[in-house]
Amino acid sequence: MMIHTHSRNLVSPKNKFQVIPVIGLQWGDEGKGKGVARIANVLNKNDLIVRFQGGNNAGHTIWHKGKCFVFHLIPSGVFGKAKIHLGAGMVINPGALAKEAKEIPKNISFLNRMSVSPHAVLTIPTHLILDSVSEKTKGKKKIGSTGKGISPSYTDLTLRRALRVGDIFYSDFRKKYEMLRDEHKKTLHQNFNYDVSAPELKEAEQNFWLGIKFLRSLQIIESAEIVTKTLSKKHKVIAEGAQGSLLDVRFGHYPFVTSSHTISGGVATGLGIPPSYIGGAIGILKAYVTKVGEGPFPTELGGKESSVWCRDKKVNDEKAKFPEPDPESKSEFEQGIALRKFGHEIGATTGRLRRTGWIDIPLLKYAIKINGVEELVLTKLDVLSGFKKIKVCTQYIIDGKKTSEIPFDLARVNVKAIYKSFPVWRGKLSDYGKKLPKEALIYVKFLEKILEFIKGIFPDTDTLIKDVNFE
Ligand code: IMP
Repeated sequence: MMIHTHSRNLVSPKNKFQVIPVIGLQWGDEGKGKGVARIANVLNKNDLIVRFQGGNNAGHTIWHKGKCFVFHLIPSGVFGKAKIHLGAGMVINPGALAKEAKEIPKNISFLNRMSVSPHAVLTIPTHLILDSVSEKTKGKKKIGSTGKGISPSYTDLTLRRALRVGDIFYSDFRKKYEMLRDEHKKTLHQNFNYDVSAPELKEAEQNFWLGIKFLRSLQIIESAEIVTKTLSKKHKVIAEGAQGSLLDVRFGHYPFVTSSHTISGGVATGLGIPPSYIGGAIGILKAYVTKVGEGPFPTELGGKESSVWCRDKKVNDEKAKFPEPDPESKSEFEQGIALRKFGHEIGATTGRLRRTGWIDIPLLKYAIKINGVEELVLTKLDVLSGFKKIKVCTQYIIDGKKTSEIPFDLARVNVKAIYKSFPVWRGKLSDYGKKLPKEALIYVKFLEKILEFIKGIFPDTDTLIKDVNFE
């Protein structure tokens, strides 16, 4: 279920003709894909949905006509009418893109609406090997990457040797590819004592070249051109973020981050457009928090025990050991497992167990601030129905002092979360029709107030009830 804090008309006077970023405010998996898919339903064929960063590390789960689809590279608006664009700031694995395109039902015509930036970076098969081998050698210090070659792909961009989509149309492309691949093999051998075998690369390279063939058949358009054209004709442009703000390469919890700019500022550099083209962001937050991979997580249920469990165990291990986890268990670790079960919190890209915890206000305020969020969308509130009591972290205690500030390096300080508890409604939210039960309303109102989204944006209860959208 999603709740809009207010139903902004996508072309309200303030945001007229500006790109609207849709940004995750936590560690990803907030439901951005669903949000964008929903927005896509009200867009028309002249509007545009763009991705501006990331690659197939993203996993956007969309339900369409009773079937579940997970998109990694293709913008979530694929089932709507609007044009879709894979922007300059992305890293694109050609084989993965071709595979994803094939999985879209035949009756959905989208190739005529889809374009790709020539500036987007290509992920090549050896990027994936570099990613997994370097993670393995880090041992306990690993980042917990998705293994999709994202960091090595962006590294090659800044090393100024990356292959980009525009390169595939030149006759020297194969030669350039082989040179880069061989550089990677050398690095793997010299730095990691790892020798890439021919069979290991064979299938991946076959898929890569099939992907290149597919890419060549697509419309290649500069992001700035398609965005500017769309805006100048007074149509709407939605910039679909991938990952979450706390995974931003500079402003997330470095080094436990992805390698791109996931925040709204990334829209300008990811598309090559002036910052003045970018409007206030729509921030998506989940009614609790999840995280995949390593790194600090102050409100994690079960703390270290949970992070180690999620790192080392698979879904089936968890099902076998905790077939019916008790949300009221005395053990917070078990409560976290219950939350994972109720919310189906399994990584959409990697199948990993997502770490779970309570909403964290200091981190949310930080994310709202750095993104310039003007509208909030709360997702998955209904998942909390299984609990009798839920919590919100309102502040931290660091070095014996209460604070709402985010330290420079969250991983190096001892953070204790201060919580406020809320009672939970009885039964499911859907039992209450279009209204929210009293307890849910109190919880949502509290979030609005503490996040300072109440003034002017969400004036009264009636508005909330009117704006509640059930999935
Ligand atoms: P990478 O982007 O694969 O290099 O992974 C770096 C970190 O970002 C790891 O902790 C991943 O689990 C996390 N990450 C990357 N993409 C996503 C996503 O789409 N959702 C949630 N976490 C992600």
